[in-house]
Amino acid sequence: MSGGISGGADMPDRKAQPRTLRPGSTVGVLGGGQLGRMMALAGSAMGYRFVALDPAPDAPCGQVSPQIVAAYDDIDAARELARRADVITYEFENVDAGVAALLAEESYVPQGSALLHTTQHRLREKAAIEAAGVPVAPYRKVASLADLKTAAAELGLPAVLKTVTGGYDGKGQAVLRREDELEDAFRRLAPERADSAASPQGGPAAGDAGSQGAEEDAPLVLEKFVPFRCEISVIAARSPRGEVKSFPAAENIHVNNILHLSIVPARVPEAIQRKARELAEKLIAGLDAVGLLAVEMFVTGDGELFVNELAPRPHNSGHYTMDACATSQFEQHVRAVCNLPLGDTELLTPAVMVNVLGQHLEGAVGRFCDEEANRLGVIPKLHIYSKTESKTGRKMGHINLLCKDTADALAWVEQTNLWRN
Ligand SMILES: Nc1ncnc2c1ncn2[C@@H]1O[C@H](COP(=O)(O)OP(=O)(O)O)[C@@H](O)[C@H]1O
Ligand SMILES: [Mg+2]
Repeated sequence: MSGGISGGADMPDRKAQPRTLRPGSTVGVLGGGQLGRMMALAGSAMGYRFVALDPAPDAPCGQVSPQIVAAYDDIDAARELARRADVITYEFENVDAGVAALLAEESYVPQGSALLHTTQHRLREKAAIEAAGVPVAPYRKVASLADLKTAAAELGLPAVLKTVTGGYDGKGQAVLRREDELEDAFRRLAPERADSAASPQGGPAAGDAGSQGAEEDAPLVLEKFVPFRCEISVIAARSPRGEVKSFPAAENIHVNNILHLSIVPARVPEAIQRKARELAEKLIAGLDAVGLLAVEMFVTGDGELFVNELAPRPHNSGHYTMDACATSQFEQHVRAVCNLPLGDTELLTPAVMVNVLGQHLEGAVGRFCDEEANRLGVIPKLHIYSKTESKTGRKMGHINLLCKDTADALAWVEQTNLWRN
């Protein structure tokens, strides 16, 4: 399959001519959260300067680089970022389209905006993945309750209903196991506009009127439930000069839909790890992306891989690279957007990354280096994002556990008793 991807088609990419930015150049980051902070820390080590734009004063990235405190859709602030930076990147997907266009006009945005446009919308994203020749779980777009019923009949239950935009950490989705759950889930997830397209009073749909809209009109997508053996992710990088490299696959374990552990090497056969990296590399090249692309995948019992979703930025499941790989994902991202040669991605040691959420913060800081770790031969490396407020479920930091065998690191996580909730 060749040709353009959906998403590129409806929003012309404004990717500029490649430029190489030497150390000493200033990188402007849209977003000042932990991903921006770790990017700035890694890039500063190579001699780059950073400036972040974030609405929250004293944002994690703002503590290690200058920060412009302003809303993300503040055009004047975006213009100031463009003026102060030689190259612009972002640490989150939901960049305002107007701001993206302005930055491309007034500064240099090697990543362009087409991929952001694609990954902001699950249906566009799936179409783009398929166009690159990479498998996704079977899905149907859902614009009405009638659509949902048809889709559920075609795909079978269980299935997962998701909003096409705005979902994260499991928000904006529902697993449907029985037919009598469809209507409730539809009413909960669909915005009102779609609701009125459904049959009145929730009775049987009178035909399919309203369900044949364009992709853009469908607010929901129904996916076949993949009975996965595990979830893995691969982070790939590509520079404007076309060099592509991927990091080793991480096996990801979620608790309450939030990433809890990344285990590397993933506990799947090497052939599957290799195939996962090949898929990620094929995707980043097929999408003509620059910077990092995180690719979340399901591994089935037969060793099949389905891509679940993409993130065009550093990813939580790649934090292990900070201590376990020759190059971290953050250094790689800076190298890619600055068009430097990409760094070696070799795994130097097995590792487990465990997320530190608000409820784990105090205990993790107290226990991150202890007798038990010594006894197990595990080396815990602490990373704290220095957010101004700690909340239950909020990502406050992570610990990379370097080990000889990931089972030892997992034993430490068990024995600390910190991650019970
Ligand atoms: N089609 C599916 N089949 C099985 N599990 C799924 C499916 N889609 C999502 N999930 C589960 O829900 C989690 C969150 O879904 P995801 O699409 O990655 O949304 P989010 O944006 O919240 O990360 C996944 O990591 C996976 O565990
Ligand atoms: Mg996800």
